Amino acid sequence: METFNLTVNGRSVTVKTDPERSLLDVLREDLRLTGTKYGCGEGRCGSCTVLIDGRRNHACVVPIKEAADASILTIEGLAQGDKLHPVQEAFLAEGAMQCGYCTPGMILSTVALLKEKPKPSDAEILQWMEGHICRCCGYVKIQKAVRRAAADSAK
Ligand code: FES
Ligand code: FES
Repeated sequence: METFNLTVNGRSVTVKTDPERSLLDVLREDLRLTGTKYGCGEGRCGSCTVLIDGRRNHACVVPIKEAADASILTIEGLAQGDKLHPVQEAFLAEGAMQCGYCTPGMILSTVALLKEKPKPSDAEILQWMEGHICRCCGYVKIQKAVRRAAADSAK
């Protein structure tokens, strides 16, 4: 067991755990941040996407020792009080979810995309979101939501 300090959604936290344990397990089981979803557990579906120091990562394949001292953003930290983040608003406006299981990862990935490319082309959106699987096959609406989020943030 080792002790790790990290910042999660702007809050300093300390966890004592096995250094090889995944960030996903720590978020969900120790910190009760269950908005980050377990899908494949091997970095292939995107449902566990979080931002680590502003960059998207699959929390299922990041050992907690590699997240030490980093700043982590999960879906729970995106809204400002009662005000949803513009990307969350765009997903709602487009109805870009069915069961919602993939949605936190899709939204955080979109936040990262728009930070890197504020005006992505359709091809760039598809390429960026390629690693995300929606088992409900809501891809058309998800793409529309990403487009809407980009358009809204350009206003
Ligand atoms: S659960 Fe992490 S990528 Fe699928
Ligand atoms: S909305 Fe169900 S997995 Fe994407």
